[in-house]
Amino acid sequence: MNSATLTLSGVTRRFKDVYALNNLDLTVGAGELVALLGPSGCGKTTALRIIAGLDRADEGQVLVRGESIDKLPAHKRNMGMVFQSYSLFPNLNAEENVAFGLRMRGASKAQRRDRAHELLNLVGLDHHAKRFTHQLSGGQQQRVALARALAFEPDLLLLDEPLSALDAKVRANLRDEIRALQIKTGTTTIFVTHDQEEAMSMSDRVAVMNGGKIAQIAEPDVLYHTPANEFVAGFVGQMNRIPAQISGSKARVLESDVDAKFDWETQPAEAVALVRPEAIEVTPAPNGNATVVARAFLGPMSKVMLQTTQGFSFDASMTSDQSASLHSGDSVNVSIKPGQYLVVPA
Ligand SMILES: Nc1ncnc2c1ncn2[C@@H]1O[C@H](COP(=O)(O)OP(=O)(O)O)[C@@H](O)[C@H]1O
Ligand SMILES: [Mg+2]
Repeated sequence: MNSATLTLSGVTRRFKDVYALNNLDLTVGAGELVALLGPSGCGKTTALRIIAGLDRADEGQVLVRGESIDKLPAHKRNMGMVFQSYSLFPNLNAEENVAFGLRMRGASKAQRRDRAHELLNLVGLDHHAKRFTHQLSGGQQQRVALARALAFEPDLLLLDEPLSALDAKVRANLRDEIRALQIKTGTTTIFVTHDQEEAMSMSDRVAVMNGGKIAQIAEPDVLYHTPANEFVAGFVGQMNRIPAQISGSKARVLESDVDAKFDWETQPAEAVALVRPEAIEVTPAPNGNATVVARAFLGPMSKVMLQTTQGFSFDASMTSDQSASLHSGDSVNVSIKPGQYLVVPA
C-alpha cells in the first residue's frame, strides 16, 4: 500500500460575491476516510472539484504527499471519482468501463482485462462483466463506478454523494461495502455527503462544513458528544433545546444548576441548554417537574416525549425496557446527566 496524504491550505473559491470556500484548511492522513458533511451549498462539491483539478481555487494550495498539485491538470492527478449521478459510459459494458482508466494509463489489453475482473470481483459483480449500464440497477452501477475509480490505484478516492440516488436498503449495504473496500485497499478517501448517519457510520473523521468553512473536524463520537458549537450540535444527531437562566458561572436548567462553561464575551440574560435525548434522565415521581406526553416505540430504543410544568417540550431516548413503565400523563422527574449538555446564548 502506498497511501497518499492530502492537505488543503487556505483554499478560497469565490463565485461573484459568494464564497463557496472561505480559507479552508484540511489535512487527511494516509489511508484515512474523511467525510465532508454539511447542508446543501456549504461548499462540499467545490472542495472536491478543486482537489480533482476540475475547478481552480482563487487562493490557497492543494498538496498530495506534501507536494503542490495546483499546476497539474485533472487527468494527471491520479484521482478516482464517483458522483451521485451514474457516470458510466453507456456505450461500454461493465468490464470496459472499469478498464477505461487503465487504457488511458497505457496498460496492455490482457492487463486491463485481468485488473477489471479483479475489481469487479471485489465489488461482487464479476458475473455482470458484459452488462451495459441499462442492464444494471442503480446500486450495481455505483459498484462499477467504484471499481472503475479504484482500478488504477488512485492516490485519492473522491466520492460526491455516491449513495444519494439509491433507495434506503441499497444505500445502507453499499455504505458498508465502500468502507470495507476503502479499508482493504488503504485508499485515502474524501466522502462528500449531506447525510449525517452516512458520514458518522463510515468515516475515520467527519468535517462538518458551514458556509465554505469547517465548523469542526473530529472522530464521529467526539463530534457527537462534544460539538464545538451550536451549528455542529444541531446538525449532528438529535438535540433538545431547553431554556436556561444564567447566574454567575451556573445555568439553571430543569430546576438544577449546572456549570455553564462560558465562552461568550458578554453574559447573556437568556440561554439555551442543548441536550441529547439520551442525556435526559427520567424517573417516575408524583408531583415531579414534568409529565409524559407520549411514548414512541422504535425497536430496542423508545422515544419519550415530555413536557415540563412550565410548558417546555422535549424528548428523552431510552431503552424500550426502561420506557415500559412510562405512560402518557404520568408525572416524572427529569434531569440532565452530568456533563452532557452545551449551554449557548438564546
Ligand atoms: N459554477 C458556479 N457558479 C456560481 N456559483 C456556484 C458555482 N458552483 C458553486 N456555486 C455556489 O457555491 C456554493 C457552494 O456550492 P457547492 O460546492 O456545490 O455546495 P454543496 O456541494 O455543499 O451543496 C453555493 O452557494 C453554490 O451556489
Ligand atoms: Mg454538492
